[in-house]
Amino acid sequence: MTKKTNTKLSFIGLGYVGLTTSICFADKDFHVIGVDVDKSKLKKISSGKSGIFEPNLNELLCKVLKTKRFSISDNLSDSIKKSDVTFITVGTPANHDGSVGLQFIKSAATDIGHALKNKSSYHLVVVKSTIVPGTTENIIVPIITKISGKKYDEDFGICYNPEFLSEGSAINDMNNPDKIVLGSSNSKSKKIINNLYNIFYSTQKINIVNTTISNAELIKYANNAFLATKISYINTIANICNNIPNVNVDEIARAIGLDSRINSKFLSAGPGYGGSCFPKDVKALIQFSSSLDYSPKLLIAVDEVNQLQPTLIINIIKQKLSFIDNKTISILGLAFKSKTNDMRESVAIKIINELLKQNPTIKVHDPEAIDNAKQIFGDRVDYHNNIIEAIKNSDCCVILNDSIEYKSLKPTIFKKYMNKALVIDTKRIFNYSEFNEIVDYYCYGVGSY
Ligand code: UGA
Repeated sequence: MTKKTNTKLSFIGLGYVGLTTSICFADKDFHVIGVDVDKSKLKKISSGKSGIFEPNLNELLCKVLKTKRFSISDNLSDSIKKSDVTFITVGTPANHDGSVGLQFIKSAATDIGHALKNKSSYHLVVVKSTIVPGTTENIIVPIITKISGKKYDEDFGICYNPEFLSEGSAINDMNNPDKIVLGSSNSKSKKIINNLYNIFYSTQKINIVNTTISNAELIKYANNAFLATKISYINTIANICNNIPNVNVDEIARAIGLDSRINSKFLSAGPGYGGSCFPKDVKALIQFSSSLDYSPKLLIAVDEVNQLQPTLIINIIKQKLSFIDNKTISILGLAFKSKTNDMRESVAIKIINELLKQNPTIKVHDPEAIDNAKQIFGDRVDYHNNIIEAIKNSDCCVILNDSIEYKSLKPTIFKKYMNKALVIDTKRIFNYSEFNEIVDYYCYGVGSY
C-alpha cells in the first residue's frame, strides 16, 4: 500500500523524462502539475496522448488524468505557488563544441526565481536534467537567489536527482530502479527529497544513495559513460573477431559476462551506440574534463570507436558489393535501438547518408520509425512498411537493429526475393550456419568458419 502524501509536486518540462516521471509520481498518489511552454503539447497530453513512444505511457497518462491527481499548465508561477517541490526536467541539448547547452535550464531557473518572489513558504527545487558538476550550485542557485531575493537553504532548497530511465522500459525503470541518487546540500532539502522517494517506493527495498550535489551530477555522466565504454569495448573485440576464423563475439561476451565483476549487460556488439544520451553525454564529459585541463583519453577512445563503427559497416557493404553505384540496398532497422521510433543519433542516419553519396537505390524498413525517418531522408530513400517489399530485388540487405520482427525471418525469404541474397547482419540476430548455407551471410563479430 502506498503511504499517503500531502506534498504537491510540479514538473517543468514535459519531455520524455518529465512526463514519464510526473505520471509515475501521480500514479503513486502524489498531486502533480506538469508544466510546459508548448501549448499544443499540453493539449495533446490533456487528451491522454503523451506524444512519446513508450510502452504503457498513454494508458498510465489516461489513468492519472481520470483520478485528477495529474493536471497540466503553462503557468509556471501559479504551479509553483500550488506546489511544494518543483522538478526541473528540461532538455540540455549539446552546444557545437559538445558542451552542455544550458539555455533551457537558465530559463527555468529564471522563471522559478520570479515565481518564488511571491511565495512565503519553503520551496524545494529538484534538478533532474543532465548537467556537469557545479552547474546546480554555481549557475542555477545564483539565478534563483538573485531574481527571487530569497535565501538559499533558508527560503528554498535545491537537490540534484539524476534519472536512469531507458527508452522502451522507462515506467518499469522508474518503478523498479537499481538505485536512486539524491544530491543535497542541507538537511532540510535532504529530508524532503528522501521522504518523497520513501513514500513513492513504500515497502520496496531501494538503494538510495545520498551524496553531495556535485557527486550526483557526476554520477549521471559516469554511469552513462561507463555503459558506453562497455559497448565500445565489446565492439572493439568484435572488430578483432571479424578477422579470426572460428570466433563469435557473442560467445566471448557471454563468457566474460559470467564474471560478476564484469556482468553480462551492455555487451551486445553492433554498429555503435546512438540515441539522445550516450553520444551527447560522453562528448560532454570529454569537453568538461578538457575544461579542467585533463584530457580523458579513455573517453576520447570510447567516442572514437563509436564514430568509426558505422564507417566499418559501410566498408563491409562496399567490399561485398564491389561498387555501390546503381545497386539496390535494403536497410532493416532505422531507430537507434529496437522497440522505439527514436531516430536521434541513430547509426542508420550516418550509414544511409554515406551510401547515398554513391547513388544506390535505398529501401528502408523499421517497425516504428518510418514517420521519423521521413523527416530525415525525405524522398532520398524508398520507405516500406512490409519487410518483403523492403528486400525485394535488392542486392544487399543490412540489418541494423535487433527488432523482433527481423529475428523470425528465414534465409529462404532473402534467397527468394532479393536480386542477390547478400545479408549483412550487424547484430547477429540469425542462426549463423542456417543462413550461411543458403545466403551470402556476413555476420558482424563472427569470424569466418
Ligand atoms: C540510456 C541509459 O541506458 C539510461 O540509463 C539513461 O537514463 C539514458 O540513456 C539517459 O541518459 O537518459 P537509452 O538512451 O534509452 O538509455 O538507451 P540504451 O538502451 O542505453 O541504448 C543506448 C544505445 O546503446 C543504443 O543505440 C543501443 O542499441 C546501444 N547498445 C546498448 C549497444 O550497442 N549494445 C548494448 O549491449 C546495449
